[in-house]
Amino acid sequence: MNNQNLVKRVALFCAIGTIPLAVSSRLCNFDPPVMGWSSWNTYRVNISESLIKKQADAMVSLGLKDAGYLYINIDDGFFGYRDDEGMLHTHPERFPNGMKVVADYIHSLGLKAGIYSEAGSNTCGSIWDDDKNGIGVGLYGFERQDADLFFNKWGFDFIKIDYCGAGQQLELEEEERYTYIVDAIREVSRHNISLNICRWAYPGTWVRNLARSWRISGDISPRWESIKHIISKNMYLSAFAGEGHYNDMDMLEVGRGLKPEEDVTHFGMWCMMSSPLLIGCDLTSISEPAMKLLTNPELIAINQDPLGLQAYIVQHEGGGYVFVKDVEHKRGTVRAVALYNPTDTVCPFNVPLSAIELEGKCRLRDIVNRKDVAPVDKSICFDVPAHGVRIFRVEGKKRVEPCIYEAEHAFLNDFDDLAKRKRSVAFMPFESASGGMTVTNLGGHKDNYALWDEVYSENGGIYKMTLYYVPSEKGRGGIREPSVNDRRIEVSVNGNMFVIKQLESDRSTGVNKVEIPVELHKGYNVVKIGSRLTFTPDIDCFTLIPDEK
Ligand code: GLA
Repeated sequence: MNNQNLVKRVALFCAIGTIPLAVSSRLCNFDPPVMGWSSWNTYRVNISESLIKKQADAMVSLGLKDAGYLYINIDDGFFGYRDDEGMLHTHPERFPNGMKVVADYIHSLGLKAGIYSEAGSNTCGSIWDDDKNGIGVGLYGFERQDADLFFNKWGFDFIKIDYCGAGQQLELEEEERYTYIVDAIREVSRHNISLNICRWAYPGTWVRNLARSWRISGDISPRWESIKHIISKNMYLSAFAGEGHYNDMDMLEVGRGLKPEEDVTHFGMWCMMSSPLLIGCDLTSISEPAMKLLTNPELIAINQDPLGLQAYIVQHEGGGYVFVKDVEHKRGTVRAVALYNPTDTVCPFNVPLSAIELEGKCRLRDIVNRKDVAPVDKSICFDVPAHGVRIFRVEGKKRVEPCIYEAEHAFLNDFDDLAKRKRSVAFMPFESASGGMTVTNLGGHKDNYALWDEVYSENGGIYKMTLYYVPSEKGRGGIREPSVNDRRIEVSVNGNMFVIKQLESDRSTGVNKVEIPVELHKGYNVVKIGSRLTFTPDIDCFTLIPDEK
């Protein structure tokens, strides 16, 4: 079954189902992603007091502060040395007056100040940029002392904590190490600190308890391949963000050499995916198009939207992806929709309104170009150029129930992008699966499950759940499978468990399905799929169609 067919079939089911008008709209108000400027992309370790002050001045004089950019973040390069008492000193030439004067200056402009450190002993700069002053200045063994210095004595509001020395040299364990550091910071610092964890991959579901944001990829560069790679790394991570915690796609390369349409895609997708927005170019010589893009209030509004949601994919056809998220009201009639074309040729998009859960005449506002376009009542159709994006605020007449839930958009409790475990749950492309993607290696343990906690039913009642799966490859990863197919799927709907044992085991059969009648409550329901004792086959998606009887 290809995705197009699935979308059509689902659209038909939705059309014949009884879908009432009223939608519940829950208002939430979470801290939005951090917006500001950071020194790394342009200056690497070559920073100084006067340079930082000039950038802070420019942030205000250019109107970026008024547009919402508040943080001036000092990245690697300010370190001097640690003395015999363990006291950290700043770089004698770059920051001869220490960091308090810099933080005070930033604050005097009504801005917030960010600092940088390392979870181990030696900084990334000491390893990659030959910055000798970065040796022995990391947090390792000095957690409380440095927290007191950074936040109480110097007065910084934000910290990014890197993992070069900790990982490459000390081989520390991430969850343990970051928990220890964050506990120390919380214990010592007198005010709330916005914390960013920088481990160049989604670190694990523990990270949300520790940080406001976390990097999900290696370092960005001002090349299209880098932008495309980071977007693809973040495509299926929306369930891990939320409630004021965000996947960090790295500092912005806008205005640093990408083509104009690539700059738009870069910034637009960072907004759609609710990444922190940290400008990385030299503000004192920023170009007009970069300024215009970075201060587009309509794009910023979807990044800073109080619902704090990350967009997810509702359609993937011919190389293009359709991303969507609620803005303004949860399950309301306004949605942000991006047609994203990562390919090297034009991509035609045809998005039925049912795919974005809207019905009736829809008003479309092109928020990149800041103008209304003709309303639609069936589908959104545009050709998007190579490396391009079109982003719309779509306002429909009526919000309809979702009919399909993709495995790749579930919260995967054991998701382990750092590949710590041998056979960890992972995204597995499969061409004929819905969205071209499945989730493999679910199960084998009670904690290794997929969770959808916002399965929505307008009225509640009996539904036909159809679960689509792909029989797994035998013996993948060198693990020997028993010759008998012992795979199972355990589906729990609001705690009611269905165990499915009779499953197809031949992968060449492609996408298979099983049907189960389930009861949904009115409003949000919780669906959990896993298998406590054995692995599940690769899970594609499930659909929910109200029972007509
Ligand atoms: C790592 C981080 C970068 C930057 C440098 C500083 O590479 O990922 O963002 O902070 O360290 O050395």
